[in-house]
Amino acid sequence: MTAVLEVQNLSVAYRMQGGALQAVRDVSLSVARGEVLGIMGESGCGKSTLAAAMINLLPAGARVGQGAVRLNGTDILRLPPAAQRALRGKSVAMVFQDPMTAFNPVLTIGRQLADFVGAHDTGLAQPERLAAMLTRVGIPDARSCLGRYPHELSGGMRQRVAIAAALLMQPDVLIADEPTTALDVTMEAQIIHLFRDLRTSFDGAIVIVTHHLGVIAELCDRVAVMYAGQVVEEGAVDAIFHDPQHPYTRALLACDPAVVDPSSGRLPTIGGRLPDLSAPPRGCAFEPRCRVAAVSCREPVPRQRPSAGRSVLCHRGAE
Ligand SMILES: Nc1ncnc2c1ncn2[C@@H]1O[C@H](COP(=O)(O)OP(=O)(O)OP(=O)(O)O)[C@@H](O)[C@H]1O
Ligand SMILES: [Mg+2]
Repeated sequence: MTAVLEVQNLSVAYRMQGGALQAVRDVSLSVARGEVLGIMGESGCGKSTLAAAMINLLPAGARVGQGAVRLNGTDILRLPPAAQRALRGKSVAMVFQDPMTAFNPVLTIGRQLADFVGAHDTGLAQPERLAAMLTRVGIPDARSCLGRYPHELSGGMRQRVAIAAALLMQPDVLIADEPTTALDVTMEAQIIHLFRDLRTSFDGAIVIVTHHLGVIAELCDRVAVMYAGQVVEEGAVDAIFHDPQHPYTRALLACDPAVVDPSSGRLPTIGGRLPDLSAPPRGCAFEPRCRVAAVSCREPVPRQRPSAGRSVLCHRGAE
């Protein structure tokens, strides 16, 4: 499969007083057309920063140190500003955690969708086209939805509209950052269902950032596990869930509330915390929290050698 989106040796840092916080460190990933890639890892490990870099929408203060993000072979981080704007929404589209922030509260849904696509292609901005897309994402009575304001919709409906907006331009890549986190469980299930339908009807690539392992298991073909700005393990979801090789992946899976034995009465946690990303350790970043760490783990971890579609960033993980 040829990669539609390819992240190569990407590093991103945030400027801080007296230094820089290294949020994404030497990450390489790729996603093919028709494929769904999940990105998981605990809070602060760099998932959103990586997702934002994939659409070249990094916040002010973020700086790409090295690496490339190639969309169909073109490095989008190095395009002139006008070309970057044209690409956003058209070739790569993003769905955010809180669907409310994606909308202007004083404009109707129809007006906002029309403005959004009209910037690229006025033909698409016609009400019939917009209503057809809303129907596709499961909005009942799509025509009347076009005349409503964002606050008149439930959170789940708003997220559907945000997904419809992202799909209108038929992007090559759809990136969703925690698309279900702000929703209650019923709505979450509905949005998962919608993404599952999209797997068959959308012919681009999908990247889903989530801390919810159930979302990964239900939707993704492959998963990248991040820790302290790095991808520490990557491979097919089945392989990683059934046979995790990195000690961090094992620990993360063991903490999933869905798999914990209720009779134990408590949820396991991973002791310790993320290292200080303004001065990441020379060796393995997980070493201080790792149960199987050895002295050699304080040495730099050898560069990943992917085999059989699987990579593990660990001195000992493949033992
Ligand atoms: N705009 C910013 N300015 C400065 N530092 C930032 C900014 N955004 C994120 N960071 C820092 O970069 C690191 C990675 O943050 P990021 O938001 O990418 O993590 P995340 O994995 O998405 O976390 P979460 O699961 O909480 O959303 C964190 O240490 C965070 O504090
Ligand atoms: Mg995030």
